[in-house]
Amino acid sequence: DWTMAEFRKTKIAEIREQVGDGKVICGLSGGVDSAVAAVLIHEAIGDQLTCVFVDHGLMRLGEAEQVVGLFRNHYNISLIHKDVSSLFLGGLAGVTDPEAKRKFIGKTFIDVFEEEARGIGGAQFLAQGTLYPDVIESVSFTGGPSVTIKSHHNVGGLPERMNMKLVEPLRELFKDEVRELGRELGLPEIFVGRHPFPGPGLAIRIPGEVTRERCDVLRKADQIYLEEIRNAGLYDAIWQAFAVLLPVRTVGVMGDGRTYDNVCALRAVTSTDGMTADIYPFDASFLSRVATRIINEVKGINRVVYDYTSKPPGTIEWE
Ligand code: XMP
Repeated sequence: DWTMAEFRKTKIAEIREQVGDGKVICGLSGGVDSAVAAVLIHEAIGDQLTCVFVDHGLMRLGEAEQVVGLFRNHYNISLIHKDVSSLFLGGLAGVTDPEAKRKFIGKTFIDVFEEEARGIGGAQFLAQGTLYPDVIESVSFTGGPSVTIKSHHNVGGLPERMNMKLVEPLRELFKDEVRELGRELGLPEIFVGRHPFPGPGLAIRIPGEVTRERCDVLRKADQIYLEEIRNAGLYDAIWQAFAVLLPVRTVGVMGDGRTYDNVCALRAVTSTDGMTADIYPFDASFLSRVATRIINEVKGINRVVYDYTSKPPGTIEWE
C-alpha cells in the first residue's frame, strides 16, 4: 500500500536517475507546489539544484522574506533572490486588461528567469511544481471546448528555448497530497497549509491599473482578512481567501467627514482542486468584524463587500 514515505523514496531515486550529474534550476513562486518540488529535488541531488525566486513585488505581506528565510536558512538550498519589483510595476503602469497583465507578467518572469539561469552557467533541467490538475486543466477547462479562460503563469516555452528538460516530480499528485508530502519533508505547517496563490500575484486582484500604492493598500486589507480567518480557526476549512481592491470609489462617512474611497471585495471559497469552487458561508458577524477592521485600519478603503459567486460561473480569481 501506498504511502508518502514510499513516494518520497521512489521519486528521489527517479530524480537521481533522470538528472545524473546535471544541473537543475527551479523557480520558486512562494507557493506550496514549487517549494515542495524544490525541497524534494534538493534531497535527491543537493547542490546540483539552484532555486531562483523572481520577486515581482506582487506577493502578500511578508511572504518574500518568508520564502528566502526558509530556503536559505532552514534548508540551506542555494537560492537566487532577484528583486525586480520596479521592473514589474513599471511595465504594469497603464495596463488594465487582465490578459495583458497576465501576458506581461508571464513574459517578464521568463526573461528574468532566463537571465538568471544563464548566470549560473546554464542548467540542463528545469524543475516545476506541476500538479495533476495543472496537467488536466492545460488540456481542457472544466470539460468545455478548448477555450483559454486565463493564460496561466508558468515558464512555458522556456524549456524549449533554453534546451532544458523538465523535472516535474509532483505531476501525479493533487494539492492535498502535495501538502502531505511537504509535511513528510519537514516543511513548516505555515508553509504547507498555505492557501494557493496565483503566479501573477496581487496584479490580478487589483482590477484596473496596478500601482505600488494600490498593492500596499491591498496587502494591508488582505492581511487583516487572513488574520481574522486564522483567529476564527477557519483557515484550513477554506481553499483560498483573499481581498480584491476594486477600481471603484464610493462615498462614505467617517466621524463628521465625507469620505470618497475604494471598495474592497472579500473572496473565500472551498474547493478540492481549484477547478470548481463554492463560496465559504461566513457568519454575518464574522464578515462585519472584518469589514469594520479594514475600513478603520486601512487608509484608502471605505467600503467592503463579500463575493457570493461560485465557480462556475465565476472563476476564483477576479482576473
Ligand atoms: P481561477 O481564477 O482560474 O483559478 O478559477 C483557479 C486556481 O488557480 C489559481 N491561479 C493561478 N495559479 N498561475 C498560477 O499558478 C496563474 O496564472 C493562476 N491564475 C489562477 C487560482 O489562484 C486558483 O487557485
